[in-house]
Amino acid sequence: LMAEKSGYRHFMLKEIHEQPRAIADTLAGRISENKAEIILNDIQLSTSCLTGIDRLYLIACGTSWHAALVGKFLIEKLARIPVEVDIASEFRYRDPLINSRCLTLVISQSGETADTLAALRQARTQGAPVLAICNVVESSIARESDGVIYTHAGPEIGVASTKAFTTQLIALVLFTLFLAQQRKTLADSQRQELIAALMSLPRLVEEVLQLDEAIEQTVRPYLHARDFLYLGRGNQYPIALEGALKLKEISYIHAEGYPAGEMKHGPIALIDEDLPVLVLAIKNATFAKVCANLEEVHARGGQIFIVSDCDCSDLRALAREYFIIPTTHDDLMPILTSIPLQLLAYHLAVLKGTDVDQPRNLAKSVTVE
Ligand code: G6P
Repeated sequence: LMAEKSGYRHFMLKEIHEQPRAIADTLAGRISENKAEIILNDIQLSTSCLTGIDRLYLIACGTSWHAALVGKFLIEKLARIPVEVDIASEFRYRDPLINSRCLTLVISQSGETADTLAALRQARTQGAPVLAICNVVESSIARESDGVIYTHAGPEIGVASTKAFTTQLIALVLFTLFLAQQRKTLADSQRQELIAALMSLPRLVEEVLQLDEAIEQTVRPYLHARDFLYLGRGNQYPIALEGALKLKEISYIHAEGYPAGEMKHGPIALIDEDLPVLVLAIKNATFAKVCANLEEVHARGGQIFIVSDCDCSDLRALAREYFIIPTTHDDLMPILTSIPLQLLAYHLAVLKGTDVDQPRNLAKSVTVE
């Protein structure tokens, strides 16, 4: 079994470190030789179908649902189509307003999640074309969809999803750029800028992974933390949710993800010197606002963790732990910020001595509704 883990202590750690390769494999063959266009032969839907739709439904469970939340930002911004995001188990029972002009995109690593499969069938019954983003080839969801964008991340063994998540985000970027290309909502130069950024991601992810040891060395003081708060804004909000989910799943520490700007409407009441608060502070349009939230946490004594692409003394002065990551196109930053959060959850879980690869009560694929 050790051999399968290639020397890593757990499958999860191996899979975290496989991300540069997995991302390269998701991109392989999907960018034209002149780096100007996206090729998605996997999508069996006609151009007229893709240009004729007036809404998208993104449906998933768990970590894949967090990918869907990032997908909404991408698709609405770049392909200019309204997107609804649904948790699969909620979708069917709300009499969804879905028809043949609503493209449904289901996201599932395993392709076997019962709620997601049931939602897919519901959408099809109501006449919607269905695409899937899956990791497992020929899975039930893949087989029942009109087209599949495979993530090609390779088998994911750890119950807590890591490389499947970041490659779902890559698949969503590819799909969004393809839609934008078909619908002509994006200038060629903008598309090419994103393509260039996509191609340099494996190298940047490799760089982020170098934080592994530093993160391992910071976790001990937080071993007995009872709660963690994760804050992010815009496309980083779903990453805050995902970071909190990772921590809950494998370390059994309660954690909550929240939109940073909403903190003042509730979670701020929880902040005291015992609460670790992880803030995703990315240098984008809302950076100044996130920094203001940071000041508020600091004023109440919260133990601040910062993940940022900005190395500045003002932030350093506020932070207990400060993890600097490289910067890239803002639409791709969620892929980079995911990684320190995976490592943080992993190292805390290892320190707590939990069964990292097979946490209690959880299953890799949930085939009951
Ligand atoms: C289970 C797993 C999660 C996963 C979710 C959805 O809860 O433990 O890691 O995100 O199912 O799985 P799927 O295979 O549909 O992406």
